[in-house]
Amino acid sequence: MSANEERSFIAVKPDGVERGLVGEILRRFESRGFKILALKLTHPTKELLSEHYGDLSSKPFFPKLLAYMQSGPVAAFVIQGKGAVKIGRAMLGATNPQDSAPGTIRADFALDIGKNVCHGSDSVESAEREIALWFPEGVKPYTRSVDALIYE
Ligand code: TYD
Repeated sequence: MSANEERSFIAVKPDGVERGLVGEILRRFESRGFKILALKLTHPTKELLSEHYGDLSSKPFFPKLLAYMQSGPVAAFVIQGKGAVKIGRAMLGATNPQDSAPGTIRADFALDIGKNVCHGSDSVESAEREIALWFPEGVKPYTRSVDALIYE
């Protein structure tokens, strides 16, 4: 996979969907130059979420986190492009919106850690794991002529 083909899994959580932030969040990634590789509105099961957040299962906030993530539909998408994971995380901002830098999604749209609007993969490995989990139907690559204007 070339550097320009790096992928990250991004999700707008149920609070973000209900608040009508899907378009705004998607727009930020599109405007930056990332290719939207996959996109769907989905109701994640407890099983999927337990796997997605498997490393947090012993945390005290885990049950609340799962309930929150099941409180409504999630907008799940895959972005592709140079630095997708690192830039994706930077665009989201710190986990706790109280610490998120101004201009990041969480700083611009959230106040509490338990309602932080969005998710983004924290490594290339977890991105690939999360993409396979949330898009078991697979993700189909496509070419964009606009890439010639985005990459040197
Ligand atoms: P984590 O994977 O640590 O952060 P991130 O989403 O930035 O990768 O935590 C997953 C989610 O769990 C986080 O987005 C919000 C929730 N959470 C809490 O509700 N309370 C907490 O103290 C922490 C650390 C996370």
